[in-house]
Amino acid sequence: MGWSCVVARAVAIFLMLSRASALTSDIFAAGKSDKEILDNLLKNSRYDKRLLPPVDGVLTVNVSVLLLSLASPDESSLKYEVEFLLQQQWYDPRLRYSNQSHYDFLNAIHHHEDIWLPDTYFIMHGDFKDPIIPMHFALRIYRNGTINYLMRRHLILSCQGRLNIFPFDDPLCSFALESISYEQSAITYVWKNDEDTLRKSPSLTTLNAYLIQNQTIPCPIKASWRGNYSCLKVDLIFTRDRSFYFTTVFIPGIILVTSSFITFWLEWNAVPARVMIGVTTMLNFFTTSNGFRSTLPVVSNLTAMNVWDGVCMCFIYASLLEFVCVNYVGRKRPLHNVVYRPGENPVTQRLPAVLSRIGIILASPLGDKKRESTGAAELVSCTACTGPGACTHTANNGGVAEPCFVQVRKKEPPHPIRVAKTIDVIARITFPTAYAVFLIFFFIHYKAFS
Ligand SMILES: *[C@@H]1O[C@H](CO)[C@@H](O)[C@H](O)[C@H]1NC(C)=O
Ligand SMILES: *[C@@H]1O[C@H](CO)[C@@H](O)[C@H](O)[C@H]1NC(C)=O
Ligand SMILES: *[C@@H]1O[C@H](CO)[C@@H](O)[C@H](O)[C@H]1NC(C)=O
Ligand SMILES: *[C@@H]1O[C@H](CO)[C@@H](O)[C@H](O)[C@H]1NC(C)=O
Ligand SMILES: *[C@@H]1O[C@H](CO)[C@@H](O)[C@H](O)[C@H]1NC(C)=O
Repeated sequence: MGWSCVVARAVAIFLMLSRASALTSDIFAAGKSDKEILDNLLKNSRYDKRLLPPVDGVLTVNVSVLLLSLASPDESSLKYEVEFLLQQQWYDPRLRYSNQSHYDFLNAIHHHEDIWLPDTYFIMHGDFKDPIIPMHFALRIYRNGTINYLMRRHLILSCQGRLNIFPFDDPLCSFALESISYEQSAITYVWKNDEDTLRKSPSLTTLNAYLIQNQTIPCPIKASWRGNYSCLKVDLIFTRDRSFYFTTVFIPGIILVTSSFITFWLEWNAVPARVMIGVTTMLNFFTTSNGFRSTLPVVSNLTAMNVWDGVCMCFIYASLLEFVCVNYVGRKRPLHNVVYRPGENPVTQRLPAVLSRIGIILASPLGDKKRESTGAAELVSCTACTGPGACTHTANNGGVAEPCFVQVRKKEPPHPIRVAKTIDVIARITFPTAYAVFLIFFFIHYKAFS
């Protein structure tokens, strides 16, 4: 009785041991299916998913990102949707299986719940477009114990643009990865490989998003607010479509402002035409600029756009006011019954004289300042004089100079219509010049063509 009992127990123990040894040696045997290998690998007695992979030192998680699509709802938005595949790779010695098996890797997608996974989370401004728990993922266990965890993520990032130079800014979108519970001493994230940590999928689709630059870096010290946690950062720098803003904002604006300058070339008393041009361009400019602004974020620091709208409005309004002035001056009753002679144009007639004076001043020797100044003064008053020598000589002689000065003293105030026309002539030059100068400074200052 006693003997048989002892023998039975010994046999039972021996059987158990042999079965156990057979199990450990057999679970990876060539004939085993991947399902059996997985079941055996992840057995509760063998594997505890609550424990970190037992590696020497720090567990390294290699990370890389593959961009799938980039989109922005509209041109002026600061929201960018970024869809990408996040690959995390680490080494778990408990999940090694021998190379007798003919599987290069095991597909553990249905063991998502049973395997230790890094608790990576995203630090970002924005939202997940899909559930926080990844729905689309791949999980592979390689025979050397490397685990490859691939998941699709779709983020809606709120990016930082410099709205004060909008639309010439380059929005910067960034997000970071960090472990929520394991400190740096337990898990370290590293970018998998310096060259291709951030790749574009060959089928990358973009919508209103123009990626110009990217960087994948460890988080800067001040950005990783938790200090002792390993953290990786992705910066995506987008640009805006300059041609879109030129065709919808700047070129229409330039056309409207220059159209308002047409008024200077019309008759001073063409009231309906000139008022219509002024008012139409002004209203049109308001409509265009309001329509565009309705799509912009409502913020106060849209400096570049405010400067553009403000200055263009000023030019249109000033050209309207110029007409009002011209018309008002032209309708004044002339003093002293001056008659208006239509052929005369004060500016164009004086222009040759002014030009010749400039020529004389430039040509005359520098040391001869006195003669130059007196000669010039006389020339202005007395256009009949052909040169400085002639004028001063006649003045010294006393005889012929008299009519010159008499003419100056008797010079009558210009006829109001002539004044009006002069204002128009001056405006024809100054308005377009000033506007051209503004355009050059505006586009250079905001680096529109860089
Ligand atoms: C992670 O990358 C390093 C090199 O950057 C490499 O030595 C290591 O084997 C990689 N680990 C895994 C699990 O792929
Ligand atoms: C796995 O293969 C390598 C070489 O291919 C060999 O050196 C090693 O012994 C093999 N391991 C086992 C457990 O068979
Ligand atoms: C493990 O195997 C995979 C696939 O064969 C390979 O990419 C990886 O570099 C290996 N890792 C190590 C640490 O040998
Ligand atoms: C990221 O930038 C690197 C160089 O800075 C470049 O080689 C790589 O193609 C860029 N990746 C993408 C997705 O644009
Ligand atoms: C980081 O860890 C070190 C030691 O492990 C500790 O002295 C320090 O206070 C920690 N810093 C933070 C911000 O938790």
